[in-house]
Amino acid sequence: MTGTGPVTARFDTSRPHPARVYDWFLGGKDNYPVDEELGRQIMSLDGTARHIARTNRWFMQRVTRWLAGPAGVRQYLDIGTGIPTEPNLHQLAQRVAPESRVVYADNDPIVLKHAEALLRSTPEGVTDYVQADVREPEFILRRARESLDLARPVALSLVALTHFLGDEDDPHALVARLVGALPSGSYLVLSQLTADFDPEAVGRGVALYRAGGVTLAPRDRAEIARFFEGLDLVQPGLVQVTDWHPELALDESTDADAVISLYGAVARKP
Ligand SMILES: C[S@@+](CC[C@H](N)C(=O)[O-])C[C@H]1O[C@@H](n2cnc3c(N)ncnc32)[C@H](O)[C@@H]1O
Repeated sequence: MTGTGPVTARFDTSRPHPARVYDWFLGGKDNYPVDEELGRQIMSLDGTARHIARTNRWFMQRVTRWLAGPAGVRQYLDIGTGIPTEPNLHQLAQRVAPESRVVYADNDPIVLKHAEALLRSTPEGVTDYVQADVREPEFILRRARESLDLARPVALSLVALTHFLGDEDDPHALVARLVGALPSGSYLVLSQLTADFDPEAVGRGVALYRAGGVTLAPRDRAEIARFFEGLDLVQPGLVQVTDWHPELALDESTDADAVISLYGAVARKP
C-alpha cells in the first residue's frame, strides 16, 4: 500500500505541519496543539482564513465533479492529498463512475496514519496511497503505475500544494516532469496561494508559517500561469478558486469579507 521515498517528512508534533494546520482550518480533529496554535494566530490576523481554506476544498470538489462528469476522466493522481476530509476525491469520482482509479500521495506521516479512509474504494474501482514527497516525481510515477495505466488519460491534481515548495525546489520543473509522464487528454488541476489580492495579510501568514519552520511561497498570476505552459486551459482559465465554475457548487457558503488569495485552474494536455 505504501512506499517511503528519500525525502519523506518525519512525524514531528513539536512544530506545525501543513496537513494538520489545514485539517484544523477544515474543522478536523487530526491536529496537535502546535497546529491549532498556528491556525489560531492566522485567524487572529485574518478571521476569514478558515473560510478561504474551505473555498480551496470546494474548488477540488467542483473540479472532480467536472472531471468525472463532462470530461469523462477515470484515473486520478492526487499529490498533497491531505488528511482525509469527506467527501474525498475518490468518493466524488466513484460516485459518478464507480470504476474510477485514484492514487493519492502525501509526504506527511499523519496522512499515512489515516490513509485507510482513502482506501475504501467501490468494488469496481481502485484507490491506493503512496507516502511520498512531490520532490521525488520518479518514485511517485513508479508507484502510480501499479494502479494506473499511464498510457491512458489521468487527472493530476496538485491542490494547495505548490506554495509549500520554495523556488529552490523548482516547482515548475517538478510539475512539468509529472505532466510530461502523462498522455494526451490528461489534465492538470492546480491551486496555489497568491499575494496578488491581499499582500499584507498573506505576508503576515507567510511570516507565521516561517516562524513555525514551514515554507510558504505565494506566487503571482504569471508565475502560477507558468505551471500550465503547453496545456490548454479549460474555461474560465486561471481564476480565484471561487470563480471556477461556481454553478457546480453543492454545499458551499459565501463570505463577502473574504479575500480569496488562491488561484486555481484546470488544463488539458493536447
Ligand atoms: C493545504 S493541504 C491541501 C490538501 C488537499 N490537496 C486539498 O486541497 O484539500 C497541503 C498538503 O500538501 C502536503 N504537502 C506539503 N508539502 C508536500 C510535499 N513536498 N510533498 C507531498 N505533499 C506535500 C501536506 O502534507 C498537506 O497534506
